[in-house]
Amino acid sequence: MPLLMKPPTHQPVLLSEALEALKAASGGLYIDATVGPGGHAAAILQSSSPDGRLLGLDADPEAIATASLNLTPYQSRFILRNGNFSRLGAVAASLGLGEAQGILFDLGLSSLQLESAGRGFSFQKDAPLDMRFGPSQTTTAAQIVNTHPEEELARLLREYGEEPRARAIARHLVRQRPFQTTLELAAAVAQVAPQGHLHPATRTFQALRIAVNGELDSLKEALPQAVALLAPGGRLVTIAYHSLEDRIIKEFLRQESRDCICPPGVIPCRCGHKATLALISKKVIKPSLAEALSNPRSRSARLRVAQRL
Ligand SMILES: C[S@@+](CC[C@H](N)C(=O)[O-])C[C@H]1O[C@@H](n2cnc3c(N)ncnc32)[C@H](O)[C@@H]1O
Repeated sequence: MPLLMKPPTHQPVLLSEALEALKAASGGLYIDATVGPGGHAAAILQSSSPDGRLLGLDADPEAIATASLNLTPYQSRFILRNGNFSRLGAVAASLGLGEAQGILFDLGLSSLQLESAGRGFSFQKDAPLDMRFGPSQTTTAAQIVNTHPEEELARLLREYGEEPRARAIARHLVRQRPFQTTLELAAAVAQVAPQGHLHPATRTFQALRIAVNGELDSLKEALPQAVALLAPGGRLVTIAYHSLEDRIIKEFLRQESRDCICPPGVIPCRCGHKATLALISKKVIKPSLAEALSNPRSRSARLRVAQRL
């Protein structure tokens, strides 16, 4: 293949840990709910040779196109679909795939999306304020930042960005708007948020991206669907990159690994809830120092594993 046509690459995070957690083996069906450019997916297909199968899903059609190139060596063993994992159950049912032995969620953004000119995910590259994973989503970051009332903008920065200066930033943005580009927005945030070890616009960009893509709601919707798709003994593996996602996963796993979820003091049990999962990793699995040094994107990664009962 000529050098210019080489497909772009992304360094998969916690790769050996995710493979170990999934226990990918020949004959199994695996679902990568966030296939991205296909880094984890290729390793799952390799580990499940000669006949493991994989469904790869991604909300970003560009990611699906890249994965399709990167997974070419496994041609007959994978199916890719462009769609939100909040519809995981419906997508799997429409393909008639049956129960899965492992499902992976590697959340957030790939380096390719972050580095891609024109997507608007990075505060270090000038681009229109878009931040949508795909064209099917109608609201862009520009629409949110340029039209939301100040109070609503502050709430969003506080809840989705965990931004301590949410009110001050929202007030300043409302005075300075409209904004067209990422660099204009990042510069305005930097005028009111102090420079720390993070770029002052980090939390604002995270908040806008989560709001644009409805990321937390999608995750809450997807997790029970994933459990329903797993065969007994099948593994659910998640990698989260910020505390909001990790908290949702932790709470879901805690609830699904308990037989009763009645409020404290309710005896006898009234909820009738039965555990569907056993926790495999009681603690989160974090990247090694070597991985954190070689791939700074991995530093905030938190992997959790559970097994379908
Ligand atoms: C960290 S990347 C995955 C990288 C991949 N594991 C690899 O090693 O190549 C996360 C991917 O999840 C996708 N994504 C995020 N939220 C999604 C959602 N709600 N539904 C489907 N895909 C989503 C993003 O578009 C992105 O491509």
